[in-house]
Amino acid sequence: MTEKAKSKVDTVRLQNMSRAFIESASMFAAIDLELFTAVENGSNTVEKFAVHAEISEVNAERLMTMCATAGLISWADDHYINADDVQRFLVKGEKSYAGPWLTFTRPGWSNWGNLTEKLKNPDEATVIGSYETMTVDYARTYHEATSSIGFGAGRRFNKQVDLSRRTKMMDLGGGSGAYSIVAAQNNPNLSAVVFDLPPVVVVTQDFIEKNGVADQVSTQGGDFTKNDFPQNCDVAVMASNLPQYNREIINQVIQKAFDALLPGGEMHLIGEMLDDDRKGPMDAAIWGLMEVMSNSTGLAHSRKDCVQYFKQAGFEKIEVHEFIPDILVRVTGAKPK
Ligand SMILES: C[S@@+](CC[C@H](N)C(=O)[O-])C[C@H]1O[C@@H](n2cnc3c(N)ncnc32)[C@H](O)[C@@H]1O
Repeated sequence: MTEKAKSKVDTVRLQNMSRAFIESASMFAAIDLELFTAVENGSNTVEKFAVHAEISEVNAERLMTMCATAGLISWADDHYINADDVQRFLVKGEKSYAGPWLTFTRPGWSNWGNLTEKLKNPDEATVIGSYETMTVDYARTYHEATSSIGFGAGRRFNKQVDLSRRTKMMDLGGGSGAYSIVAAQNNPNLSAVVFDLPPVVVVTQDFIEKNGVADQVSTQGGDFTKNDFPQNCDVAVMASNLPQYNREIINQVIQKAFDALLPGGEMHLIGEMLDDDRKGPMDAAIWGLMEVMSNSTGLAHSRKDCVQYFKQAGFEKIEVHEFIPDILVRVTGAKPK
């Protein structure tokens, strides 16, 4: 290392990282105390927010200062205002409110303090990991969270992919059915089957009914690592369950989707993928590491890995698209005619 490079090295980045959990804790507390909703509704100073949240002024000041330095709120002359993303996704009552998703990983909080232990002494891994204990009640809470961002992702998919000439879609691990519901609403000739674990599809049915698409969207309960896939489909979508499985399992699932698709059909794998240099994005690594807690075999897959799964299955015209930058990538391929 040169003298110049050496002198640039300091502890700042490492110090910030060592306390990053405090930033998460602050955001959770601000969500609990409805800070961002209060700011929108006029309780936008330390004094007013303290009264609104029934906390002391000094604690209101501590929390608001932290949120301001984290860029969640900012001071404008004589009051705080929300950052644009906070205004859109963390103000209660807004249609785009994503609080359930943004607190989704919070129940794992205490486990993360024991990560070293978990890494050294993992419980025995199972294929579907934490999904082993899925119940209808848990699926309801889980998909209240996923749907708070899933329908936005479904709309993005609909903008990126023209399904107007397609007739039937299988939505593997479709959860709330967000992708299928939006696809059906935008393509009157398309039907879709949401394939998910049996307790989950009970909840999917509620979403389907609430969105008025029961004539186009149906469900099939099953485990995509074991059970047969819906037949006569010319589109397959699998979104947001990639790091929950290891390479071998994802390979098999993609092969099964390829085999089940009609000739000329297309598949879209949307997932948290590492860049090929494996230096990021961090979200893919986080979801891969999370599988330590779920006792599954899952890990982070790279874009290159996913392209390889598609190639091996027999897909052609394989393409990699940004889907939600730094969060989700879409790999797509066509089954030869
Ligand atoms: C994070 S959610 C994503 C839901 C939906 N695709 C979306 O993007 O909004 C993952 C879903 O995959 C389902 N899933 C995971 N493993 C599965 C399996 N082996 N068989 C069927 N469904 C599975 C889960 O039950 C859950 O509903």
